[in-house]
Amino acid sequence: MLGIETSCDETSAAVVSETDGMWTIGSNIVASQVNIHREWGGVVPELASRQHIRDICPVVRTALDTARADLKDLDAIAVTQGPGLVGSLLVGVSFAKSLALSLDRPLVPVHHLAGHIESLFLQHGPIPLPLVVLVVSGGHTSLYVVNEPGRYERIGRTRDDAAGEAYDKVAKLLGLGYPGGPIVDKRARDGNDEAIAFPSTRMTHADRNAPQMKGELDFSFSGLKTAVLRYVRQRSESGVQLSDQETNDICASFQRVVVSTLLDRIFDAADRYGAQSVGIAGGVSANARLRKDFTHQAERLGIPAYVPHISLSTDNAAMIAAAGLRNFHAGKRAGLDLNADPSLEL
Ligand code: KG4
Ligand code: ZN
Repeated sequence: MLGIETSCDETSAAVVSETDGMWTIGSNIVASQVNIHREWGGVVPELASRQHIRDICPVVRTALDTARADLKDLDAIAVTQGPGLVGSLLVGVSFAKSLALSLDRPLVPVHHLAGHIESLFLQHGPIPLPLVVLVVSGGHTSLYVVNEPGRYERIGRTRDDAAGEAYDKVAKLLGLGYPGGPIVDKRARDGNDEAIAFPSTRMTHADRNAPQMKGELDFSFSGLKTAVLRYVRQRSESGVQLSDQETNDICASFQRVVVSTLLDRIFDAADRYGAQSVGIAGGVSANARLRKDFTHQAERLGIPAYVPHISLSTDNAAMIAAAGLRNFHAGKRAGLDLNADPSLEL
């Protein structure tokens, strides 16, 4: 299976093969656009789609060469249909459609978040079900329960900012650069996480936009983001220039609240849904403290915990190929009228 991922600011292609139901990564090539967007402090959609166009051919070629595969060896082509930036998605979708047509191979559409969830199965093989998994990235913070392979039931989500978005905004506020997650993660290691008492939010009422869901497993990070903003403003109004140490303390204190909020909801969900395992996936699952605290808490509770390798945490096409294999076996195919869908539901 060739996987293609272009939903945001990474152009990625991967070859994943299947033998006796086991998946093996032949290649997973990622061309990151971080250096282009850094100058603007965030992803610029128009620049992203133009760069995808430049990168898609060499990235696919390198993925095939690395896997020592030829185009004719491919059995199918999987591509991220959504969610994501429409211009970026369109590059991958158009490329995959052309390839499927010219090679006369099936085209398999993939939901980006299904890709993140399948990164866990790709790395660890069969996982005891039900699995409660948190997908936590720059655009999403959602909890799913997987009762059978390939079926994802959403049981919680963020009402406002995604956790990764909060990291990016806090980093911007502190003048630390882009993307914020890895920088705040690093600065937090040298900070005191009890230095500042930032608030954490617990939802007790249903979301007005989804009244059928109780919403008790939902997240909210905009209050925390505002609290950090207010703290930094107050310091600046009192004429204080933040020292490196105080910046580290802010990062550590902010991160403590984010990580404890995420863990609180995961293990609450695991309890409510009788989970046999728990997992984290998506860009923020690369966070050192989240990985460590998550693993420790699961160990303490005696529940098997799954974390993807860093290269499978952030956006990559191997996870799209894996989800593509799942969909392929379920008989899911797309025609040449497949369109990118920026707000595709899982
Ligand atoms: O999954 P991903 O690569 O792209 C999306 O689908 O959004 O996630 C990117 C997000 C960014 O917000 C980035 O700041 C965050 O993941 N991130 C991190 C870390 N590495 C990436 N957040 C916290 N700690 C990290 N080490
Ligand atoms: Zn992602």
